[in-house]
Amino acid sequence: MNVRFEHVTLTYNNGVEVLHDMDFELPDGELIALLGPSGGGKSTTLNLVSGLLRATTGKIFFGNDEVTEKDALQRGVGMVFQNYALYPHMTVLENIVFPMKMAKVAKDVRNERARALAKLVRVDDQLNKKPGALSGGQQQRVAIARALAKNPSVLLLDEPLSNLDARLRVEMREEIRRIQQETGVTTIFVTHDQSEAMHVADKIMVLNDGVIQQFDSPQSLYQNPQNQFVARFIGEPVINEVPATALREHLVLPATAVTVGIRPEAIKKPVMDTPVLPVTAERIQAFGRDRQATLRLGDYRLITTEIIEAVDQVSLDRAGVYAFNAAGERLPIDWDGKRA
Ligand SMILES: Nc1ncnc2c1ncn2[C@@H]1O[C@H](COP(=O)(O)OP(=O)(O)OP(=O)(O)O)[C@@H](O)[C@H]1O
Ligand SMILES: [Mg+2]
Repeated sequence: MNVRFEHVTLTYNNGVEVLHDMDFELPDGELIALLGPSGGGKSTTLNLVSGLLRATTGKIFFGNDEVTEKDALQRGVGMVFQNYALYPHMTVLENIVFPMKMAKVAKDVRNERARALAKLVRVDDQLNKKPGALSGGQQQRVAIARALAKNPSVLLLDEPLSNLDARLRVEMREEIRRIQQETGVTTIFVTHDQSEAMHVADKIMVLNDGVIQQFDSPQSLYQNPQNQFVARFIGEPVINEVPATALREHLVLPATAVTVGIRPEAIKKPVMDTPVLPVTAERIQAFGRDRQATLRLGDYRLITTEIIEAVDQVSLDRAGVYAFNAAGERLPIDWDGKRA
């Protein structure tokens, strides 16, 4: 199901507008991540899609149908939250069957479908256990199966992995990807973890202060951030940020540039015909495949992942260098411009 917001705003009862003029379209059959810091508006946006919250202004469409005034049941969404919220007194099978029972699906049909879903999420060997006897990852698998039971128009996942330990999170995010691809159901996955979003999503909507910062493929967000917030939020190690004044003698920067962002992998050993910066090496770390050096450029520190020896000059790879103005907006850099 394709989901569209037209100029949607949301004001909570206290009179504060927390989502501002949201305008977007989620393509059918894709896995979309809603990514942003705490308080950015991710859950509010998800609850507007689900129908648990009503838009203050604007319109919401599922396909060609306007659903702005419809509730969650009418919209037919499936939801999974951070806390597993399974029925504790029911077995795994009964949990998955329950929504179909409520919808009066015939008994043999619903049992067969529940078993197929259990197999899809790989809990088919746990069917007779109660949720309390399952691991966190298994409980979330059951919650996903239950949400899929009614063939939801859209599957909504609000931080479904945040109660799991780091290793299990990585395993489960791959599982969510697999399940989404096998079912083809349009899925919105909320997370504040950029690496999680980058690994699972077809497209990522970055939200901050109730405003969409950028809605793009993981690759484009990384390589072509539209503003300083996105450049800073996406990527590990975090992008280096240096005041433009510290770089003007080495680079031709737009007059209104205030900050320059430099990706750690864009700082390389000196090569011909690229902008060169004088640096001193401060600290070099290498373990396994991880390598990282801290360099100094005057008063500023730069992290690079490309150099593991002492150098006194580095080259910049243009693809990973971005200029921003005082408002944090991206400015084009004229790489062929002559230094004044
Ligand atoms: N019921 C409410 N009444 C008033 N304000 C609310 C309510 N729920 C959320 N807010 C405010 O709306 C803003 C967005 O909250 P939201 O829960 O959507 O953020 P989030 O991105 O999901 O954050 P988190 O990562 O912490 O879950 C925040 O400033 C929050 O304080
Ligand atoms: Mg939230």
